[in-house]
Amino acid sequence: MVTRELGDVIPVPAEVRPDAAVDFAIDSGTSISAAPGLEQVADYLVAVLRPATGFELAINSGAGAIALAVDPELGSESYRMDVSSQRIVLTGGDPAGVFYAVQTLRQLLPVEIYADSAQQADWIVPGGVIVDRPRFSYRGAMLDVARHFFTVDEVKTYLDALVQFKINHLHLHLTDDQGWRIDIESWPKLTALSGGDGTGVDGLGGGCYSKGDYEELISYAEKLFVTIVPEIDMPGHVNAVQVAYPELTADGVAPMPRTDMEVGYSSLVAGKDETYAFADDVIREMAALTPGPYLHIGGDEAQATTAEDYRTFIVRVLPLVTKYGKRPIGWHEMAAVDLPTAAVAQFWRIEEADEGTARAAARGNKIIMSPADKTYLDMRYAADTRPGLEWAGLIDVKTAYGWEPAERLPGVGEEALLGVEAPLWSETLRSLTDAETMTFPRLPAIAEIGWSPRDSRDWESFRARLAEYGPRWRQQGIAFHPSPEIDWP
Ligand code: ACM
Repeated sequence: MVTRELGDVIPVPAEVRPDAAVDFAIDSGTSISAAPGLEQVADYLVAVLRPATGFELAINSGAGAIALAVDPELGSESYRMDVSSQRIVLTGGDPAGVFYAVQTLRQLLPVEIYADSAQQADWIVPGGVIVDRPRFSYRGAMLDVARHFFTVDEVKTYLDALVQFKINHLHLHLTDDQGWRIDIESWPKLTALSGGDGTGVDGLGGGCYSKGDYEELISYAEKLFVTIVPEIDMPGHVNAVQVAYPELTADGVAPMPRTDMEVGYSSLVAGKDETYAFADDVIREMAALTPGPYLHIGGDEAQATTAEDYRTFIVRVLPLVTKYGKRPIGWHEMAAVDLPTAAVAQFWRIEEADEGTARAAARGNKIIMSPADKTYLDMRYAADTRPGLEWAGLIDVKTAYGWEPAERLPGVGEEALLGVEAPLWSETLRSLTDAETMTFPRLPAIAEIGWSPRDSRDWESFRARLAEYGPRWRQQGIAFHPSPEIDWP
């Protein structure tokens, strides 16, 4: 009995051609084969199938019943899935594409597949062909580990949940007024004084990553084809920096540590040489630790910096990022200056237009779309749901799904977009369960906008596919908000 249909996938695939006459049954004799370079993806496939099926699923070098292959002609991150009664062939344009085919395959199996012990189920994969490719190369999520610290294990669990929806970037907001969450050797007091217990919002949720912790996260993410994007927020959001290093304040006096939720009160000093020595060291160390191409320098809500000082600061700091071999990303306020072509602006506001972002797009800069009234996962679902904030509005699932990134800002069309990102700020979060509850089921909406063809957007179809994910999250122990818009089974 087939429990799934070939198109029951989030994000919805580009092309689906079901053929119910050729369903494939995974059984105790099913073997797996992997072309060279796909050994790790094959191991991942076995790791997600073996516990619940109880089958060995031996990996052999011949022609396995489930075959993993690469055909570069398909394109980066793209894949093709051919399911016949004899065989399943998962062909990626590259290993990432094969990994996404595996994610699609998981979603096509019965819900019991997520169990960690052997289950009785018919492991039927619906027959037919899927040909699928991403709309955008940047499909991101952001986790604020500054306001509430998340441990390495918690971030790994979060990543495991994200990649099921073909998210490929995790932006870590590592620093803010309350705390500093990553060891910097040349400025050791950042974490010694501002990274410990009690430095999260309300004096809770502190902590920090050693360089080893951060490298462990990077390598875990790499195996899931996720690029980590570290953010060091400057010139505002720096009270924790100035607590540790008072020489980075205007008057040389250390401010009091703060764990309230105010923003826009702290600033580095644009006219001091120490500011740029600090920025250079931090960017150099973060660039050396980070294999991905991007380094995010923040740049948001610098209300305590004059407009002239802000421009001075951004103009001096952007070249430091390129000097150390990285491509700068900043919140869109940084588009107040003429950006170098490599720089990426991340739009986050709720206004209908933004002159700076449009100007950056016209100059050839790429834009990441994170409008707060659609993509901010820290906004409440409804007036009576907790946790969450509501300054950008209430965001139910239909709102998160119902917008078009290429039409969000005048002057910022499809060709200007690098992609989309759903940020999760953590002022009101106290646990991974809180983070998951805010992320699901809205993240899948943003993931579908980022991956699926623009003309495939269909709320009723999404709603029906999403409903089936409720039992899947339950089976995996992932918390989610049971939005009343969805007919959860
Ligand atoms: C932001 O929400 N301050 C980027």
